Amino acid sequence: MDCRIVTIPGDGIGPEIVREACKVLDKVARVYGHSFHYKEVLMGGCSIDAYGVPLTEEALETARQSDAVLLGAVGGNVGNSRWYDVAPNLRPEAGLLAIRKGLNLFANIRPAYLYRELAEACPLKKEIIGEGFDMVIMRELTGGLYFGERHTEEVGGVLQATDTLTYNETEIRRIAVKAFDIARKRRKSVISVDKANVLDSSRLWRKVVEEVAKDYPEVKLEHMLVDNCAMQLVMNPGQFDVVLTENMFGDILSDEASMITGSIGMLSSASLNESKFGMYEPSHGSAPDIAGKDLANPIATILSAAMMLRYSFDLDKEADAIEAAVQKVLTEGYRTTDIMSEGCTKVGTAQMGDLIAERI
Ligand code: IPM
Ligand code: MG
Repeated sequence: MDCRIVTIPGDGIGPEIVREACKVLDKVARVYGHSFHYKEVLMGGCSIDAYGVPLTEEALETARQSDAVLLGAVGGNVGNSRWYDVAPNLRPEAGLLAIRKGLNLFANIRPAYLYRELAEACPLKKEIIGEGFDMVIMRELTGGLYFGERHTEEVGGVLQATDTLTYNETEIRRIAVKAFDIARKRRKSVISVDKANVLDSSRLWRKVVEEVAKDYPEVKLEHMLVDNCAMQLVMNPGQFDVVLTENMFGDILSDEASMITGSIGMLSSASLNESKFGMYEPSHGSAPDIAGKDLANPIATILSAAMMLRYSFDLDKEADAIEAAVQKVLTEGYRTTDIMSEGCTKVGTAQMGDLIAERI
């Protein structure tokens, strides 16, 4: 198979983790007889430095012409005045929002899975962890508060800021359909998270999700209020299979879910549109404090590359091979600093990439 992949290394640790993911993809290409053609574009702070904007039209267009996008991370220290003493729509993160919207990537899939080997790093008590957990957060990514009208004004001599939260039924339906499709292939449960006791947008969310559920009689649907969900995630994480939620709640809950897996350095994510096209990136940020020191954990990005093979290219066998290789290096006791524990072998970013590639 011939695939055109746009890589966006971005800022901070982005370039080094994307390098390792490409190393692993190249090994997959050799073993299974595929050709992956890469084209690199700038986004985030590096794009601000080069072009004065976090995402150029040209970069967006290049991404649009590709089969899939592999992203590292964008952003830096807020103290970096070159990137942050500018209007919000010119900061590094604005590039990320612009590419999500520009490519219509409305479905953000964030798996949160506890590796047996990393159970020690899980901050929850053993009796709460139980048999472990394996959930997928399905976050709506191009609507809600992130993209609503916003402004700051002075009203009667007092500053006032407004952000608006809007969802229409089409936006809700398409993300719900993705969630149920995924649940059907997993443990057949969807927990839809909202704030229907307060918000109109949540009441519409509930109504539309219930309509979609009728087409999936084999999948069990439950509704959960977002505050309760935040609590349940640390009280009984094993109850979650697919968690379906809107943009802002998904942002917050996915950080919480990733924390209980022990390391955010392990979590991949996929952002998809209606077709097979997607952007794949680790769930973590650009970690500028450890950039360039060979300390970053490349596993989240490598697993994101596996998701790319699975969702955009239908290369399930190859995706399985990457996931199995990651599992193998963990079983063999190799750890980057963030997941290091006693008796294990500490390795750097590049060596972790080598070890995983060798096992494919
Ligand atoms: C995420 C990040 C982004 C978001 C930021 C960087 C804008 O936190 O992908 O979860 O809020 O969506
Ligand atoms: Mg976030």
